Amino acid sequence: MTQPPETPAEADAMLAQLKQQVLDGWEKGADFFDERWGDQGDEFHHGVFAPAAERLMGLEHGSTVIEFACGNGGFARRLGRAGMRVVATDLSPSLIAHAERRTETISDQAVEVTYQTVDATDERAILDCGGPFDAAVCIMGVMSMPLLKPMFGGAWRVLKPRGMFVVVTLHPAFATSGYKFQKSESDDEPHGLTIQRYLSRYVTHGVTNTAQKEPQVYFHRPLSELLSDAFASGLTLDGIEELAAPQQVMEESRLMWNVLPEIPMAIAMRFRRPG
Ligand SMILES: C[S@@+](CC[C@H](N)C(=O)[O-])C[C@H]1O[C@@H](n2cnc3c(N)ncnc32)[C@H](O)[C@@H]1O
Repeated sequence: MTQPPETPAEADAMLAQLKQQVLDGWEKGADFFDERWGDQGDEFHHGVFAPAAERLMGLEHGSTVIEFACGNGGFARRLGRAGMRVVATDLSPSLIAHAERRTETISDQAVEVTYQTVDATDERAILDCGGPFDAAVCIMGVMSMPLLKPMFGGAWRVLKPRGMFVVVTLHPAFATSGYKFQKSESDDEPHGLTIQRYLSRYVTHGVTNTAQKEPQVYFHRPLSELLSDAFASGLTLDGIEELAAPQQVMEESRLMWNVLPEIPMAIAMRFRRPG
């Protein structure tokens, strides 16, 4: 666990170092993740996260959307195929290059998606993306961000009045807290989780599956902190879903989530810019 900084200068230096580690992690892992996610994302993404985001967004054909942390563009292309006009952004230039390549090879349909390398912890960079947009979206990005206020504040500024910002993330209470899977001893009892810490924010280095060679930096923050950052930016919360894992068999490292249908490993929230 990282010790808190003692002076503002130390805090700035620590933040700069963390940002660099996040960027290095995604740059080094970009080819691995691009191959793993493919055109439409992994089984979690296209089976659970993307449908939840779409339900909460409920967008009409022709709506304009800005995406933060788009990875190799799976959700941006999904929106594009549904007729949305999308500006998709990510911190990693290598993932943006994969996103562009994959989008250029879609020949069945023209999709209106453009990509930009943007650090969502830099509010000014978000403002440079244009707009105003009908919606903003960020799927599985906030765990990689040391700060959330710039993204919430930036979203508020590039959204139209009554525009929405849908955030899908690992559930802070279960899937980014210090948890351990608890195998049931008998057939009568469901498998479970034990949670060892939740209320404090902390930084970890980890892999999302056993084949991943480069660890990523992850930021755990309790739900109250995530929501407070959104509310402080002037956004309100008007939709929420808690999401269990897909039930089919998955790769070894993620196997346990599929036997925990009562425990949400992700949460999808719809924030709104007031009119
Ligand atoms: C788990 S991946 C999710 C990608 C995609 N949204 C998906 O669901 O498949 C996390 C993504 O967040 C991006 N990311 C990390 N920090 C970021 C930041 N500060 N600004 C923008 N994107 C960031 C990474 O480059 C990576 O593409």
